[in-house]
Amino acid sequence: MRVSLPTLGPTPPPATPGQRLAGDLRDTHGRVITDLRLSVTDRCNFRCIYCLEPDVRFLPKQELLHREEYLRIITACRNLGVRTLRLTGGEPTLYPELDDLIADIGRLELDDVAMTTNGWALDADRARDWRRAGLRRLTFSLDTLREDRMREITRSRTTVAAVLKAVASAREAGFPRPKVNMVVMRGTNDDEVADFASLARQEDLDIRFIEFMPLDSAREWGRQVVFTADETRAAIESRWPLEPLDEPNPHSTSVNWRFADDAPGKLGFIAPVSRPFCGACNRLRITAEGKIRPCLFSHDEWDLKPLLRRNEPMARLEHFLIDAAWNKQPGHGIGQDGFQQPERSMSAIGG
Ligand code: 5AD
Ligand code: SF4
Repeated sequence: MRVSLPTLGPTPPPATPGQRLAGDLRDTHGRVITDLRLSVTDRCNFRCIYCLEPDVRFLPKQELLHREEYLRIITACRNLGVRTLRLTGGEPTLYPELDDLIADIGRLELDDVAMTTNGWALDADRARDWRRAGLRRLTFSLDTLREDRMREITRSRTTVAAVLKAVASAREAGFPRPKVNMVVMRGTNDDEVADFASLARQEDLDIRFIEFMPLDSAREWGRQVVFTADETRAAIESRWPLEPLDEPNPHSTSVNWRFADDAPGKLGFIAPVSRPFCGACNRLRITAEGKIRPCLFSHDEWDLKPLLRRNEPMARLEHFLIDAAWNKQPGHGIGQDGFQQPERSMSAIGG
């Protein structure tokens, strides 16, 4: 089958469910894919309890894609209407060619390029280079403000102070509103949500409270440890009343609030478990070894690597991506009968 090569343009209107159009990324549920999450390494120097077990086995290096291959994937996605990109890992700063990849991506002129990092290996000079090359936004993972807990949660020797310093460096380098992701787990760090809100006020930060999802390699997730977004917000509102912010982006996974007393800082609540947002999902994920995962919770993967290694033409890559997107499942199904946690942990998918 011939695939017509699309021209770049505004996001097309949603398709009628079941209407397949060659030339862009749509699924059978009427959703249009415009956002790509690309993992550039499955490696990580932390072992966060909600993600990685201490004895994790990473992929052999030769399994991972090369920089030119990542770039071809991003270009194919861009040709198919993808406008925003987030680089993820594992820990993306452990990818040896990250700086060059960011520079390459900058030349593609996407609307937004962001990256999620644990704050390791970030200093203001490096962040400034990324910024100059076109990286627009940085998100940091930080789940506690207590040093003893930091060691327990990340099972590494990093410190809260180091991550906060990385956040400050990002700002110094010209990232105006670095975001901080906190995964809230009942009995582990739920007593700190107000402290994070306080940090947002003091430092004018954008904090995202994320519900714990069944993506931990230890498979210890259970509903009882999910501290819901409503519980988090209630805990914060008992100290500082909040007001909802207008939502300009219908695909945003987080519901955002500001402080009613006009203090600086913004709070976002991401509730994939208690309030799934799959119906508005516009994302596609690609792993560091080139597997397309239409959903975080996919059990099926589409392997781009053979096509890349055979140096197939761009139209073939595009056709393959169109097929994968078409098969995007309607939702994650957490809490429904028959739900099965995917084989991969978050670190091997990319957040
Ligand atoms: N549930 C929710 N969020 C998770 N992350 C990693 N594992 C999980 C999980 N099981 C988050 C990290 C990081 C982002 C990439 O994904 O905190 O900020
Ligand atoms: Fe590493 Fe991020 Fe997973 Fe923590 S959550 S172990 S920082 S990949």
